[in-house]
Amino acid sequence: MQVSLQRQPIENVEAEAVIVVVFEGGFDRSQEARLGLGELYDSGEIAGKPYEMTLLHNVAGLRAKRLLAAGAGKRGKFGPAEMRRVAGAAIRHLQARSITQAALFLDPAYAGADYAAAAVEGAILGEFEPDRYKTDKKGSKRLERFTVAAAEGGLDLDRAVERGRITAEAQNFARELANEPANKLTPMLLAERACKVAEDFGLEYEVLDRDRMAQLGMGSLLGVALGSAEPPALIILRYLPATASGGSVHLGLVGKGVTFDTGGISIKPADGMEKMKYDMAGGAAMIAAMRAIAQLKPSIPVTALIPAVENMPGSRAQRPGDIVTSLSGKTIEVINTDAEGRLILADALTYARTLGCTHLVDAATLTGAVVVALGHVHAGLFSNDDALRERIMLAARAEGEKMWHLPLEDDYKDYLKSAFADLPNVGGRYGGAVTAAMFLKEFADPTPWIHLDIAGTAWLDESKPFLSKGPTGMPMRTMVRLAIDWQE
Ligand code: BES
Ligand code: MN
Ligand code: ZN
Repeated sequence: MQVSLQRQPIENVEAEAVIVVVFEGGFDRSQEARLGLGELYDSGEIAGKPYEMTLLHNVAGLRAKRLLAAGAGKRGKFGPAEMRRVAGAAIRHLQARSITQAALFLDPAYAGADYAAAAVEGAILGEFEPDRYKTDKKGSKRLERFTVAAAEGGLDLDRAVERGRITAEAQNFARELANEPANKLTPMLLAERACKVAEDFGLEYEVLDRDRMAQLGMGSLLGVALGSAEPPALIILRYLPATASGGSVHLGLVGKGVTFDTGGISIKPADGMEKMKYDMAGGAAMIAAMRAIAQLKPSIPVTALIPAVENMPGSRAQRPGDIVTSLSGKTIEVINTDAEGRLILADALTYARTLGCTHLVDAATLTGAVVVALGHVHAGLFSNDDALRERIMLAARAEGEKMWHLPLEDDYKDYLKSAFADLPNVGGRYGGAVTAAMFLKEFADPTPWIHLDIAGTAWLDESKPFLSKGPTGMPMRTMVRLAIDWQE
């Protein structure tokens, strides 16, 4: 999809359709009156409710063939996050009507750079359909050109449009990866895709194979890989700023890369198991974040580590009761082979620390328990460092990626007791998302660290007006903003 910026009053915007954002509670701006929307408000045809779409043809005075009034809810609640969603919903509405070229007009009241970037992101994310393996692409066309139009605005708007394009294209890349079925994306193929990103966008990369990981002593990660004929890989991508900031911060992004999770010997029920192809969504988000970071060039170094394995119940698979020795030296009793994410993340977190990462963020589809706690709205956020938590919360809020802070306190350690090893890989029946995070903390401490449990938010079971069903790509935008906004 081509993206551009036009500096034009709305009357002069050239497009098959020009989108304007309209609000709940009546119109009060001269623009809406000029466009003839006043009567439609009065009659109740336009209410401005979120994602309500009204398509008008041949509006007097407009060069564009159509005007799409896109509802955005209450004006007081409108911000870049809402703009992203409204733009996405508008694009999906137009796309479903085979319109391939559209412009969104930024009202002077919200013509800032963050709104322009969000509009571009919304359009690119809204356009995406997970139809790679459909031979008949529903017959409906995809948006080919999207223009942000604004009557005024400086150079920052050009940069914002470019930033939005880079970010959203990377996010769609994450969605594409997360949606790949496990026969098309094994751990090694995931590594190849990551290396291709690194080569295309100028990142350093390295892939540790089974032998190298065995040499290093990553027994926790390798135990999970035993049941599969597919070899594991630890994928490492590195971004170094061109001008050394002289600072001491080194951000580490760790993403769970289980290309398929059968549960292993503690096998999952068949119903819904097909969705476990997205158990590498955290890894995909981190690879995608690196793709955007390579282009947006923050001032701090960033290293991504993606432990990639397939969790299978093969004849060599690890069994419940097996004890493995992690890279940290701690021994782990594998009570449940389906709690595999924490086992591979443990070694990846330890290794990130040995590589010199000073701050860590991991993203993982880790527990069903977090979905019980927070549903499909917020990701669970756990942290051992208040300053880093505040930083990431700010970034997440700015990016409209919802995260909710959950507890990590030593009282929960009582749930993680093993009779025969240093710790078990599962807690008891209660607080499953917390005990999983407590397990990871054993390997992240004392480095400032955030754990994001994205089991409920990495995948949409039903499409939204602004996003197709399937993988969401979250939390990659927050990772990118965290790196870009980092000032030492
Ligand atoms: N990948 C799953 C978690 C998951 C569940 C992701 C639902 C997405 C949707 C993870 O590896 C897992 O199996 N977790 C177990 C942990 C349990 C055995 C302690 C779970 O949540 O049931
Ligand atoms: Mn599992
Ligand atoms: Zn899993």
